[in-house]
Amino acid sequence: MNRIDHQHLSLESRGQSHAVDEHTTPYSQAWLNAYWMPYTGNRDFKAKPRMLVAAKDCYYTTSDGRQVLDGLSGMWTCGLGHCREEITRAIVKQCSTLDLSPSFQYSQPLAFELANKLVELTPQGLDHVFFTGSGSESADTSLKMARAYWRLQGQASKTRFIGREKGYHGVNFGGLAVGGIAANRKMFGQSIEADHLSHTLLASNAFSKGLPNHGVELAQELNALISLHDASTIAAVIIEPFSGSGGVVLPPVGYLQKIREICTAHNILLIFDEVITGFGRCGAYTAAQAFGVTPDIMNVAKQITNGAQPMGAVLTKADIYHTFMEHGGPDYLMEFTHGYTYSAHPIACAAALAALDILVRDNMMEQINALAPHFEQAVHSLRGTKHVLDIRNYGLACGITIESHPGEPAKRPYEIAMKMYEQGFYVRYGGDTIQLAPPFIMTRSQIDSLINALGETMNSL
Ligand SMILES: Cc1ncc(COP(=O)(O)O)c(C=O)c1O
Repeated sequence: MNRIDHQHLSLESRGQSHAVDEHTTPYSQAWLNAYWMPYTGNRDFKAKPRMLVAAKDCYYTTSDGRQVLDGLSGMWTCGLGHCREEITRAIVKQCSTLDLSPSFQYSQPLAFELANKLVELTPQGLDHVFFTGSGSESADTSLKMARAYWRLQGQASKTRFIGREKGYHGVNFGGLAVGGIAANRKMFGQSIEADHLSHTLLASNAFSKGLPNHGVELAQELNALISLHDASTIAAVIIEPFSGSGGVVLPPVGYLQKIREICTAHNILLIFDEVITGFGRCGAYTAAQAFGVTPDIMNVAKQITNGAQPMGAVLTKADIYHTFMEHGGPDYLMEFTHGYTYSAHPIACAAALAALDILVRDNMMEQINALAPHFEQAVHSLRGTKHVLDIRNYGLACGITIESHPGEPAKRPYEIAMKMYEQGFYVRYGGDTIQLAPPFIMTRSQIDSLINALGETMNSL
């Protein structure tokens, strides 16, 4: 029997019965092979599938009925915990009211309601919202917006982008070009003109708590790149306030302020990719607010719907929006020839409004800030554990650099994550790091159990 009654299984699991459907195993290879999984070692997974069939609050339930503590909030998405009833209700209601409205030329009120909500929650000055379906789409939308903006301003030569080593801006061609993770880039060629700042991961900052003190001078590299390329060829700098997928690489104190100053001085747009940092991870609605630096364009996704629906958005300053409006030609013509079928999808809007409501209603930023010191103390207690070369943290995010097997930097993090999973804990492995991003609602004792298990696992390998 190849196919599995997952509905039956997940209901069982939700009932915490831990019952295992006798038909759950084995999965045949042919059945598994039909699905080409993203960013996954397909052969490894299909040899020993890690199937999740249900989730509630901070736990996943596996197909064999085990409970797994979620140490990454899904994919940095589900800070409010899984299957929140308020969000589920909003989705169900919207599904049976208006499942889809055309996103081009027509719309629906929730799109406007959500745009206004986002403007309210994000830094002052980011006044207009363009909706996308994901973080990758937000990245490419922001890059296109920047290039088109300069063209409309009569500066069409401003086409180049500056990204950063270890940066991640999704998988589409624009995002790849400005991204700085070699493994992601090397297969696909260079699509658009981009240069890169150095990352800010310095040995002298190892085991810093919160923002590191050394390295503000790295921001001066932007001046060097401007000297090399000339500001007249540069449209925008795009960076994550802290690099999440690159391993929670934090900006040194003052670094983002300096980047902002240089961009302003040279008429270069600053784009913050807040796909991971947006909506609570930093203990503020955005990292821009946490770090006190406002970009010209901000990309968000993931936590915006608590992960319950795919959605992204790009927020811009008024000057950018009005430049498009003023140069739009006759009113019936479109000002920005860009958009997605699923831009502002009504069900995603409903999920986002419900998720953002909970963030506000439950004073979630205060809750995160109250939990963050405990998380910081817990993760830094791993200093001295076998294989640990560095620990970095901010808010409810942590990256741990793991000593490599010779020539195989990604292997030991994988081994750690697999052993953790066997023991009932989900953590992310990426490059030479283990990454943690617990749900905002995680309890102190759940954090302790996650960190204790991680310590024991690393010591055992
Ligand atoms: C900073 C950043 N930008 C963009 C993306 C891409 O988002 P998505 O996978 O939704 O396309 C991610 C995903 O992790 C991200 O962390």
